[in-house]
Amino acid sequence: MKPTLRHILKLKKEYSHLPFFDFLRDETLSARQRLEFYPCMSPFIMSFGDLNRYVMRQEPTSDPYQAMVNEHSYEDDHHWPWYLEDFIKLGFSSEKTSPTEHLQFFYSDRTAVNRLLSYKLAHLIYNSSSIVRLAIIEAIEETGNVLFELIGKLAEKIEAEMGIELRYCGEFHFRKESGHAMTKNHTIMAKIEMDDQTRAEAIEKVNLVFAWFTEWTEELLAYAKENLNHSLEPVAQRISMSSVYSF
Ligand SMILES: [Fe+2]
Ligand SMILES: [Fe+2]
Repeated sequence: MKPTLRHILKLKKEYSHLPFFDFLRDETLSARQRLEFYPCMSPFIMSFGDLNRYVMRQEPTSDPYQAMVNEHSYEDDHHWPWYLEDFIKLGFSSEKTSPTEHLQFFYSDRTAVNRLLSYKLAHLIYNSSSIVRLAIIEAIEETGNVLFELIGKLAEKIEAEMGIELRYCGEFHFRKESGHAMTKNHTIMAKIEMDDQTRAEAIEKVNLVFAWFTEWTEELLAYAKENLNHSLEPVAQRISMSSVYSF
């Protein structure tokens, strides 16, 4: 799997230069402003537990690669409660927003790419052998690594400035991620033999993962910019917008 892993790292490097990540690095904005995209990723983050639990995991298994997939799925299926915890800490949970309005947002056009990302990944994983699943998971993890490294820095700033510990965005989550079977066992993964056909399939699917996550970052960036622009608008205009967007 070594060439596939090398390919993933090459794509990761390109991915880390996307405009959304430059936005997260933009020192002219406060850490909190740069986290303005946070609610937009809720549909994907909330379904990521399901992807691990119900799509990646297949039990029982006698397949050693599926066993690796299963092990990974147990490590990554329960991180969303920390996402909700930070959602509240960052002030996105407003009593002025009704549950119906939350659902409207969750299923709105503004978060469509987020929802579709989960469906597309589910389709890709269901239709892949265990060995290809390992490559897909590795690609997903590397996209996550780019995001968490950057928002981890923002979490540090927020903790220093406001004394708020963000467990999803910050060190707490990042430490669990770097302890993954996937990353810890890169050497084991590199040694997995793949025939030419399987490697071609893995590379094709890894390319799709990065392309879909690229679209995902575009939605997050558009959402953040739109919200930041609204917050600069005159108050009267903002009040009329808030009846449309509660987030
Ligand atoms: Fe993860
Ligand atoms: Fe995670």
